[in-house]
Amino acid sequence: MIAGVPPSSHWFIPYQSLLSLPQVETTIVEDINFNELHTPRAKVSGVELSVLARIIGVLANSDMMNALCVDRYQSQLPAEYVVAHHPILVLKINGLSTSQWAAATKNQDPGPYMITYPDFKPSFKVLTHQDMPQEPTEMFLLSFGTQKDQFGPITPSGHFPTDSPVVLGFAIAKENCLRCHNHGTAGGTKAGRTWSTLAAHARHNPVDFANYVHDPRRVDSKATMPGNPAYDQATLAAITAYFQAFPSE
Ligand code: HEC
Repeated sequence: MIAGVPPSSHWFIPYQSLLSLPQVETTIVEDINFNELHTPRAKVSGVELSVLARIIGVLANSDMMNALCVDRYQSQLPAEYVVAHHPILVLKINGLSTSQWAAATKNQDPGPYMITYPDFKPSFKVLTHQDMPQEPTEMFLLSFGTQKDQFGPITPSGHFPTDSPVVLGFAIAKENCLRCHNHGTAGGTKAGRTWSTLAAHARHNPVDFANYVHDPRRVDSKATMPGNPAYDQATLAAITAYFQAFPSE
C-alpha cells in the first residue's frame, strides 16, 4: 500500500538510498539477537520504520507493517506498536554494515536487515504474556497492509466477552504464534504448521498442546520451537481455548 505503486507489487530500495534517509543512532543493551551474537552492547544506526513509511509514501489507511525473513519468520508491526516502540531498520552496527560487522566479529550476518529498538518497554500485558519485541533478523521484505487483512481471518468468530479465555488467547496468539504459524497469507510459514493444524491439535489433545506451548522439548525432544516458560496455567489455557474455537479446516 504505497502511493503510485500497484498493490501486491514489490519495490526494491538500495542500501545506499536507505543510508541517505534521516538516520537515528542508539546503543543496544537488551536485545535477544545481540545477546545471541555475543554483543550485549552495540551502537546501531538506521532508519525509523515510521520515517521510512512516510518518505516512501505509504498510504494513510495502511495500519500494519510486516517484516519477512529468509527463514519465513514474520514480524507483525501494527501501527499502535510502531508508535509505542519506535522500531529501527538497522543499517549499521558499530559503524559497519551488518556483513562487515559480522566478518569483523566472526558472527553470522544478521542482515540484510534486522529491526531493533532504542528502549523496548512492554506496552501491554495479557495474563502472563507481556508485549514482546518483534526482532526479525535476515529480513528481506517489508510489506505495508492492514490489520483487517492480517488479523481478520484469525479473529474469533462468534460472541465472546472481552475478558474470555478465547479473546485473551487471540491477543497472545497474534503477537506470538503468528510469527511462525500462518493462516493463508497471514503470518510466517517458518513452522510449516498452519493455524488449522494447531486448531486440530488443541481440540484433539489439549494437554499435549498446552505442554508444547510451554516447553516443546517436553513433548518432542527434537522440537525447535522456542518455549514460553513464563506462561502460567491460565495463559496456556487461554491460548488453548482460542485455538480450540478456531475451525480446523
Ligand atoms: C519462532 C517460531 C515459532 C513460534 C513463535 C511459535 N512456533 Fe509453534 N512451532 C514452530 C516450529 C518450527 C514447529 C515444528 C516442530 C518443532 O520444530 O518444534 C512448531 C510446532 C508447534 C506445535 C506442534 C506441532 C503440531 O502439529 O501441532 C504446536 C502445538 C505449536 N507449534 C503451537 C504454537 C503456539 C500456540 C504458538 C504461540 C503461542 C507457537 N507455536 C509459536 C515454531 C514456532
